[in-house]
Amino acid sequence: MKITCTALVYVFISLVLRTSCVQAVYSDDAFVIDWQLANLGPWKKIIPDTRDHNRILIVSNSSEVSSLVSSFNVSSGQILFRNVLPFTIDEIQLDSNDENAVVCLNSSSQQWQKFDVHDWFLLDEGVGNAPAATILPQSSYPNDQLIVKDSELHILDAESGLTQWKLKLPQGFNKVEYFQYEDSLALVLNVNKTQYVGFSINGTELIPDWEKDESLTDVVDYVVLDVFDSRDLELNDDIIAESACDSLWNAYWLRLTTDWNRFLNLLKENHFSPGRVFTRLLAMDSKDTTASDLKFGFAKILIVLTHDGFVGGLDMVNKGQIVWKLDLDIDQGIKMFWTDENHNELVVFSHDGQYLTIGFTDGLPIIKSRSSLSIEKDVSSVIELAEHEGQYLIKFDDANHQLFRLDPRSDEDMLSAHSHSDSLVSVTEHDSDGIYSYMIENDLVKDSWQRTMKPNEKISAFVKRDETNLNTLGITLGDKSVLYKYLYPNLAAYLVTNEELRTITFNLIDAITGEILITQGHKDFPDFRFPTDIVFGEYWVVYSYFSAEPVPEQKLVVVELYESLTPDERLSNPAEHYDPLAGHINKPQFLTKQFIFPEIIKTMTISKTTDDITTKAIVMELENGQITYIPKLLLNARGKAVDEMTNDDKKEFMAAPYTPVIPINDNFVITHFRNLLPGSNSKLISIPTNLESTSIICDLGHDVFCTRITPSGQFDLMSPTFEKGKLLITILILLVITYVIRPSVSNKKLKAQWLVR
Ligand SMILES: *[C@@H]1O[C@H](CO)[C@@H](O)[C@H](O)[C@H]1NC(C)=O
Ligand SMILES: *[C@@H]1O[C@H](CO)[C@@H](O)[C@H](O)[C@H]1NC(C)=O
Ligand SMILES: *[C@@H]1O[C@H](CO)[C@@H](O)[C@H](O)[C@H]1NC(C)=O
Ligand SMILES: *[C@@H]1O[C@H](CO)[C@@H](O)[C@H](O)[C@H]1NC(C)=O
Ligand SMILES: *[C@@H]1O[C@H](CO)[C@@H](O)[C@H](O)[C@H]1NC(C)=O
Repeated sequence: MKITCTALVYVFISLVLRTSCVQAVYSDDAFVIDWQLANLGPWKKIIPDTRDHNRILIVSNSSEVSSLVSSFNVSSGQILFRNVLPFTIDEIQLDSNDENAVVCLNSSSQQWQKFDVHDWFLLDEGVGNAPAATILPQSSYPNDQLIVKDSELHILDAESGLTQWKLKLPQGFNKVEYFQYEDSLALVLNVNKTQYVGFSINGTELIPDWEKDESLTDVVDYVVLDVFDSRDLELNDDIIAESACDSLWNAYWLRLTTDWNRFLNLLKENHFSPGRVFTRLLAMDSKDTTASDLKFGFAKILIVLTHDGFVGGLDMVNKGQIVWKLDLDIDQGIKMFWTDENHNELVVFSHDGQYLTIGFTDGLPIIKSRSSLSIEKDVSSVIELAEHEGQYLIKFDDANHQLFRLDPRSDEDMLSAHSHSDSLVSVTEHDSDGIYSYMIENDLVKDSWQRTMKPNEKISAFVKRDETNLNTLGITLGDKSVLYKYLYPNLAAYLVTNEELRTITFNLIDAITGEILITQGHKDFPDFRFPTDIVFGEYWVVYSYFSAEPVPEQKLVVVELYESLTPDERLSNPAEHYDPLAGHINKPQFLTKQFIFPEIIKTMTISKTTDDITTKAIVMELENGQITYIPKLLLNARGKAVDEMTNDDKKEFMAAPYTPVIPINDNFVITHFRNLLPGSNSKLISIPTNLESTSIICDLGHDVFCTRITPSGQFDLMSPTFEKGKLLITILILLVITYVIRPSVSNKKLKAQWLVR
């Protein structure tokens, strides 16, 4: 038979063309990798919407200076919109002239706003002279249509008074939150104080339809629990079994037999069909997302502590599903820490001076102990002195301190605790009036230095240098010379606002000695009503403030610290460590640049990755509730205007000219269409994953929002659209071609030789 060589080549070429032109589908990750717990907080008041019986208005207190009014679909349990009022309200009334308008009122300050009840348009607002209004009838349950009898809820028929529906009350039933029965039935029960369950009718039965849990509102602290792959444990077991073998041959034999058995099992599972095995191998990592989530370290449990004293575990790959939660029965949560490296136990501190230890068995928490601190005072914050050593510095509301050691649980812990007790620990903390540093030696707290502010001054932001992995000592410039980074670890930076002079001052300080290394003031009339924040990366600081002059603008300032601004000059001696107490410290030299940002920045954080190789991004929560990020490279203190750049400057890696206005790129707004209510004390955090390119970003506060970012692109992960199948087929065809064509060519050669001679 003639080999259809041309046909094969044709197929091959077409395949090559198709694989090389893999359609790069831009996969929009919006709503896929990000999730949000949209909270309302405990419901305070419910107002039915007269035009749509599916809708209710819920009033809840989002903070002490604002109120939250939300429109809610009672039949589906979905939030339609949330609206933050700029003042707290204690009355909602119906407008006497227009039954579709409500008036929200603060009776003590006489502030009011009038809204359309349905679409929440602001109709009018003012202070004093509130529109004539009628008080809404206060619904209370049980009433003449609802009775609770023998742990059953009876819904009576309005005319006959006979029981129409009966419902066995759920565990933890607290009260009937809302009931309405006109054209359809709406019933919402409050269970366990912060859970709301909505019911609907199915034939003759009432069945739970939706559930909304408000317990994890207002997060104050968090820890992360990694979820490990059970297959890693299996591999680990294999390696342990192999290393237990007495000879290399036995270990090899063990590996061979276990792998052979696994292969047989794989065949058995697929009914000995090679086709199935092949398709399964092809499908393996594209479909098995849980396995890749585990492998890439996306599978984590985010454990949050709330202001109201709840601890909850959120599954980070499962849309933030609440895996478990625990009511700690404390007045207010302050801080929590892992007490051990294996993350088996948590300690939680409360405002009223209690501390609880929570143990984990099979991933579920149990309160192991509950005790009180010896001093009965209100705790304002807790500082962990060294990781996992159970020693904490507790700061009270009256600015006093106490050193606290968690009772060692076993002899082993005791030993490790003792071996560290003579080490010298330096702690620096701050409040708005000053910075205070302590030395902790032999379980004694000694004041080391402090820096108090003048009467008109306030510390508006403070940050310590991030601990980062050191990858390069310097920056290579375009002409191959090196600028050495200033890498002294014990640095802190803070911003001081002066109300009298209307200035904002940046200070860089040595946290061991308290010496100010750099100070830089801004006299562009900073507006102190707006937030300021500061972040400290490897050798640079970025801070933000709002200035009123010459035009109101959000400013971003970068300060980069170098050993010397002369290239190739290195002042620190690597053999001799820095020792500020002995005077071995060279002050940094610095460069700074100011930028303008189009939106008001509330808080900032730096993206963290496992090895700190990925370029850093500055993640910012904006005043409008959105979260965005910009690469640190854009904020380059060495940047020059385009026409000033020399050829050498242009040769530098990722060199970009100085552009004073940083634009917001829509692709970098990671909250996209979401409506986020971060609250006033929200925290922006970054959690590294096993993939160097990827960092998890979360915003914890009134709501919880998490997503993943890749500041340098996803360089270590193949895109899901990468067509492995086509690639394999191409290789297969190549193999076939070589094996079929080679003999035919040598045949031809042979024949040719025979014909010639
Ligand atoms: C909101 O909280 C304040 C105190 O923080 C309280 O006085 C007020 O009544 C609350 N408002 C509502 C609507 O519950
Ligand atoms: C509320 O939910 C119900 C049931 O899911 C749906 O039929 C209705 O359209 C929703 N109403 C609004 C205003 O979203
Ligand atoms: C009314 O507003 C004032 C000032 O905004 C606030 O201090 C007060 O607590 C509010 N009253 C209520 C009842 O929320
Ligand atoms: C309320 O709490 C109890 C005990 O903590 C629990 O058994 C019950 O399931 C909870 N109710 C709901 C609806 O989750
Ligand atoms: C409603 O009841 C029918 C039978 O009466 C049942 O098949 C169906 O699953 C029920 N629906 C729900 C959501 O429970």
